[in-house]
Amino acid sequence: MTTLDFDYFYSWVHTNLNIRLDAYKEKQLNRRIQTVMRQAGANDLKEYSTLIHGDELIRKQFLDYITINVTEFFRNKDLFEKFEELLRTDLSKKFDKITIWSAACSIGAEPYSLAMIIDRHSLPLKKKIIATDIDDTILEKAKTGIFKESELKNVSVIDRSDYFAIENNRYVLNNNIKQMVDFRKHDLVLDDFEKNLHVIVCRNVTIYFKNEIKEEIYRKMSDSLVKGGLLFTGATETIYQPEQFGLKKVSSFIYEKTV
Ligand SMILES: C[S@@+](CC[C@H](N)C(=O)[O-])C[C@H]1O[C@@H](n2cnc3c(N)ncnc32)[C@H](O)[C@@H]1O
Repeated sequence: MTTLDFDYFYSWVHTNLNIRLDAYKEKQLNRRIQTVMRQAGANDLKEYSTLIHGDELIRKQFLDYITINVTEFFRNKDLFEKFEELLRTDLSKKFDKITIWSAACSIGAEPYSLAMIIDRHSLPLKKKIIATDIDDTILEKAKTGIFKESELKNVSVIDRSDYFAIENNRYVLNNNIKQMVDFRKHDLVLDDFEKNLHVIVCRNVTIYFKNEIKEEIYRKMSDSLVKGGLLFTGATETIYQPEQFGLKKVSSFIYEKTV
């Protein structure tokens, strides 16, 4: 497959599916495209784009495969423990309401983990959790609030009994927690970002983007935070020189908006 083939395909995807593949790290992405293309039975990218165009299932399969949805509740548990501590000792003292954005939320395990933490504390705060992802299918799944046991491995016995019911070997989240999260479709590369946010949790997605796109995302996220607001990144997503984005490091993978 030549660069020209990929150029054609990237531009076809942009025009027809409104996704900017050129924002992602190329090597890794092109490998994934070739794998999913072969699975669909196409011999080249032109043929594959025709299949994507004509077959909804193949289109879904393509989107699912390139948007890597791996997640779980309380992923890197220590970070959620830190969020809980900062919610009690810092955020609730600084603000009388908090709006949290879980960006690239996948099947919802991340925003629902945040909702459980908030629910545990009866803080006199107005709370709102917005959760977004580029992938429609995954958002529909998130809204159901139904999970596999493997996605709950970091959920304590107490939280399992407080927040889930077991039905047909699946864990069904209770309505109280489900209602705390507002799911919306949002593309981190193409869409505008909401303003006046107090917390942004954006984890395990910027690793897939090219450096210049990643930097633009952090710049826009910083613009979206109120002064004193916090940005949480993934456990491999250190922001070097956070000052360039008006941020300062509070602890590992947590940054505070300073200006
Ligand atoms: C590996 S998951 C991370 C889920 C969760 N944040 C976590 O850390 O467990 C990456 C998510 O990023 C989403 N994603 C990929 N590209 C995106 C984009 N341009 N805009 C918004 N979400 C995107 C994927 O659909 C996927 O659900």
